[in-house]
Amino acid sequence: MINYNELGVVNTKQMLSRALKERYAVPGFNFCHLEQVQAIIQAIVETKSPVILQILKSDREYIGPKLIPNIVKGLVEYAKDLGLEKPQIALHLDHGDTLELCKNCIDDGFSSVMIDGSHLPFEENIKLTKSVVDYAHKFNVTVEGELGVIAGAEGYKYSKISTYTEPEDVINFVSHTGCDSLAISIGTAHGSYKFTAEQCEKDERGVLVPPPLAFNVLEEIERKLSDFPIVLHGSSTVPQDKVKTINLYGGKLKDAIGIPESQLAKAAKQAVCKINIDSDSRLTMTASIRKFFAEIPYEYDPRIYLAIARDDMKEVYKHLISNVLGSANKL
Ligand code: 13P
Repeated sequence: MINYNELGVVNTKQMLSRALKERYAVPGFNFCHLEQVQAIIQAIVETKSPVILQILKSDREYIGPKLIPNIVKGLVEYAKDLGLEKPQIALHLDHGDTLELCKNCIDDGFSSVMIDGSHLPFEENIKLTKSVVDYAHKFNVTVEGELGVIAGAEGYKYSKISTYTEPEDVINFVSHTGCDSLAISIGTAHGSYKFTAEQCEKDERGVLVPPPLAFNVLEEIERKLSDFPIVLHGSSTVPQDKVKTINLYGGKLKDAIGIPESQLAKAAKQAVCKINIDSDSRLTMTASIRKFFAEIPYEYDPRIYLAIARDDMKEVYKHLISNVLGSANKL
């Protein structure tokens, strides 16, 4: 059993309560490989931001469960080495699907876990979430629950459509489970294909504009659960310059549309104090590497093209932190 304090990480309690009070959102950035997480750490050092490093069940299997605590311990030292005296980094399980997986992660030094019972009937979601809370709180580990269905792939399950969170359910859910934060569904979706072209409108330049998030649902939830941390999943912005680069160099991404930055910034000023972003960095890395090989086909040293991809990802993370989520200078 590894206590997360040994890794130098923190749980999400203080981070989220400060974000809630000061009206910004802490980034929940997923990672599954070294260059990606180096880019995240470099970005939080340069912007002086807290961060929640999150790992999907599939990421955990991809990396190797026993490597994770050692990598994360090294990352805390890396952040200090780059100049952050007291980095605020949480290690979080994203979309945990069973009590057993959550327990294994807690035993491996995770400081925070999500238990996603959103596909279950309400009472069963409460039961599963409470069982995770009961275990996690013994070790001061924070727990994120979910109510409502977010479209796209959520780790192990897939839904074509969103079902908004029912504001009537939130008090009941939070009080019966004791969870520390709540992921809600207000129209975001996982992945790079969040909306079909038919769901969008065209602006005067012919650019597809997705439907706005359901801020009325968020505001209703905020009224019911005052001062409670809300989490937004599926919040990649799907940068159109990256999509264009991918398609220019042989990719075939059709109608890849994200959540507009202005909508995320607006949510971050409300009760949303953790915003999850994964696909933006996947797109950025793919764009960088496709462009690199199209222009320099004779190169084969991964350090050269991975370093370029890492720098590009860092810029995307810094932009999100500074200009969208508002978590810069919040250490
Ligand atoms: P994106 O696919 O929009 O990056 O969302 C990631 C996410 O919500 C992880 O839980």
